[in-house]
Amino acid sequence: MSQTWWRGAAIYQVYLRSFADGNGDGVGDLAGLRARLPYLKDLGIDAVWLNPWYPSPMADGGYDVADYRDIEPVFGTLGEAERFIAEVHELDIKVIIDVVPNHSSTESAWFQEALANPAARERFWFSDEPVNDWQSIFGGSAWTQVPGGQWYLHLFAPEQPDFNWASPEVHREFEDVLRFWFERGVDGFRIDSAALLYKSDTGYEDLDEVHDVYRRWREVADEYGERVLIGEVWLPDQERFARYLRPDELHTAFNFDFLSCPWDPADLRRVIDLTLATHTPIGAPPTWVLSNHDVTRPVTRYGRADTTFEHGGRLHGAPSDPELGHRRARAAALLSMALPGSVYVYQGDELGLPEVENLPDELRQDPMYARSGGANPGRDGCRVPLPWSGDEPPYGFGTGAPWLPQPESWRKLTAEAQRTDLGSMLNLYRTALAIRRDRLGDGTMTWLPLGENVLAFTRESGLTCVTNLGPGPVPMPAGEVVLASGPLEDGALPSDTTVWLSAG
Ligand code: NOJ
Repeated sequence: MSQTWWRGAAIYQVYLRSFADGNGDGVGDLAGLRARLPYLKDLGIDAVWLNPWYPSPMADGGYDVADYRDIEPVFGTLGEAERFIAEVHELDIKVIIDVVPNHSSTESAWFQEALANPAARERFWFSDEPVNDWQSIFGGSAWTQVPGGQWYLHLFAPEQPDFNWASPEVHREFEDVLRFWFERGVDGFRIDSAALLYKSDTGYEDLDEVHDVYRRWREVADEYGERVLIGEVWLPDQERFARYLRPDELHTAFNFDFLSCPWDPADLRRVIDLTLATHTPIGAPPTWVLSNHDVTRPVTRYGRADTTFEHGGRLHGAPSDPELGHRRARAAALLSMALPGSVYVYQGDELGLPEVENLPDELRQDPMYARSGGANPGRDGCRVPLPWSGDEPPYGFGTGAPWLPQPESWRKLTAEAQRTDLGSMLNLYRTALAIRRDRLGDGTMTWLPLGENVLAFTRESGLTCVTNLGPGPVPMPAGEVVLASGPLEDGALPSDTTVWLSAG
């Protein structure tokens, strides 16, 4: 793979708890993932990104990290992680892991030390009283009091105390953590809450000082060669967003505008144009993301009357037409894979899994649910363990009862059931990823004017991608059909369908 593999890579997101369970305890783990590596190879992805795998009390699915240099025992051991990295590399697949620099766990050695010794609190934000009225992103106050009277800041759950990046020790710690994992062979980091690290009287989002951190991290990454830093940067202002992608900072960042965009031709065209206008001048490749472990599954979202993604629970349970959602999710997958840059696939989207909206409330684990007093259902519905095979739960996920129950209807969606079905979502992804590897990925695109309801563009390889978002069929441009997301009608492209055409 080339030095700049990350510019056009197809990156598969593994939510380890829900991927595959190797030891029968109902929770996915490294053993399960290692056993399923042939599946990922066969799918045709270039890299895997794993959500946090560190020791954690799991107050926020592992984003409350107790030790950045070890593996959560429920997931496996450090030795196993090293074997996993070696095995993935054998398959010519890269490994990206999550790093969580904004906050820690209350169980981390540093926070425990701070609790025990008020003189050792400068690595976090302690004060005698809440110095502002900030609200936690998960709901409720962002301040919690400790025995002895002081308060500490947590932008997320109370179990996730924020680091104080004014402390040089915090800088040294994270540079060392990056090195720890680079030396063990990881190819890159996805940086959690990347824009939030610094705090001031005026706020915490996107303070200028944060760029010094990433300039330094880039130097560290460059020492190891061919390593990549990917920012989780949710910022409405494109000019501010682009600063993270300057040549001496992060390599790429998630495109949340695309992820949040409704299924609407004008909105999508605007977001694609804006994305290209932001990235092209600085030479950074765009990323195309439809989904992840924080958002509603695409087949459910696209089947609703309102297809916008929103963080609150407003649309939870809103009627969703499964057939429509499925058709659009297929069309969206081909669109996202044809655009220039890298693309992300969240585990289970390649199986067309829907959001599970009827989980029993007592099983919900996401702190968003409890912290919002149940007003926000939280993100468990997109984190239900994958169905691999068989006719009944746990569908080959493991041998024990999965940590979240899988719906009965998933028997039709197992990887096994889809493998032999040529028209399945899984086979659409496999075929598309194989074509993408040769003919799409990094580069440029040129729009073709095919009307306001149609998104059509060509790529350097001669491949043309056409998505019809209008209500009725439209004529297709000339060319040989390479792949289509749904049936075509005598030379016409039906509504909510994408086709890839070759100039021949
Ligand atoms: C973003 C992660 O994707 C999400 O799952 C997590 O809850 C927050 N950051 C806090 O770490």
